[in-house]
Amino acid sequence: GWKMENVLDEEIKVINQTVAPDEHVICALSGGVDSTVAATLVHKAIGDRLHCIFVDNGLLRYKERERVMETFERDLHLPVTCVDATEQFLRELKGVDDPEKKRKIIGKEFICIFDDFAQELEQKLGKRPAYLVQGTLYPDVIESCPPPGSGRSHSHTIKSHHNVGGLPKDMKLKLIEPLKLLFKDEVRRLGKILNVPEGFLKRHPFPGPGLAVRVIGDVTLENYLDTLRLVDEIFIQSIKDAGLYDVIWQAFAVFLPVRTVGVQGDQRTHGHAVALRAVTSEDGMTADWYPFDGKFLAEVSQKICNSVRGINRVSYDITSKPPSTIEWE
Ligand code: XMP
Repeated sequence: GWKMENVLDEEIKVINQTVAPDEHVICALSGGVDSTVAATLVHKAIGDRLHCIFVDNGLLRYKERERVMETFERDLHLPVTCVDATEQFLRELKGVDDPEKKRKIIGKEFICIFDDFAQELEQKLGKRPAYLVQGTLYPDVIESCPPPGSGRSHSHTIKSHHNVGGLPKDMKLKLIEPLKLLFKDEVRRLGKILNVPEGFLKRHPFPGPGLAVRVIGDVTLENYLDTLRLVDEIFIQSIKDAGLYDVIWQAFAVFLPVRTVGVQGDQRTHGHAVALRAVTSEDGMTADWYPFDGKFLAEVSQKICNSVRGINRVSYDITSKPPSTIEWE
């Protein structure tokens, strides 16, 4: 491991040598660890010449926007523009079942919004931003170009960051990738020095397309997204209460658009089913389902059915990766 204080000083120096005093930088924050640490680092170097955007696409988790904006503003003092694009995203996703089509639509909408943000910024500043910050990590770099020898090399081919999904080519932004020589645990240590809250640094990974790949089929039907958010929050909170959050790689709920028969009180119900998923993993490439004890699962199931309207069945996913993937779509 490297000494993170030295890495921090070195990175700040490099950023200040790269970005001229009259140049501006933009960054898309996903709410994840990597983009947050990258932006915080750049902000420390160049201050308010950094301009961040956070997009609420309507596919975020329970109170996600409020929670991450509070961290950005209160804990990190990052200059962030929050755009609520829920209507725009859900309009485009209406009637779409296919997982890859959903991803394409979400990627395309994101680029439109990012493009608008850059143009508005250009008008305000009287010049276009010159750089884009990305939270690319070392494993993303070696995946596309294994370095010779054992030392970590600066030279690499750039792989587009899948959370951002590629950016318009005519934007001509140069990249700043301050984490490109670091592994995930090193990013967490760096984040700690930069005062990113501990709880934030330990968050499970969350896919760019968000809950769109966790509501099976058309995500815009009825109140599927809101229902899923409530179920997911109960599951995650129960995992935290049981002290299991940090041993699990990823945990989440999936909304199943099938109706099954139940009996609640003395009423026959015809409600929806959800699946819970929790896996352990080193890197997301392979994964094992997590063996919760029966008592834990029974309590979570009961809590969900008792408090989330419309849900009368909870199942637990006991497939590993392979043969399944971690996400259901
Ligand atoms: P799978 O489902 O392929 O997931 O086993 C492996 C890891 O990747 C995440 N994932 C995504 N992340 N955009 C992302 O940014 C995506 O489209 C996407 N699909 C899956 C998944 O959450 C897991 O951590």
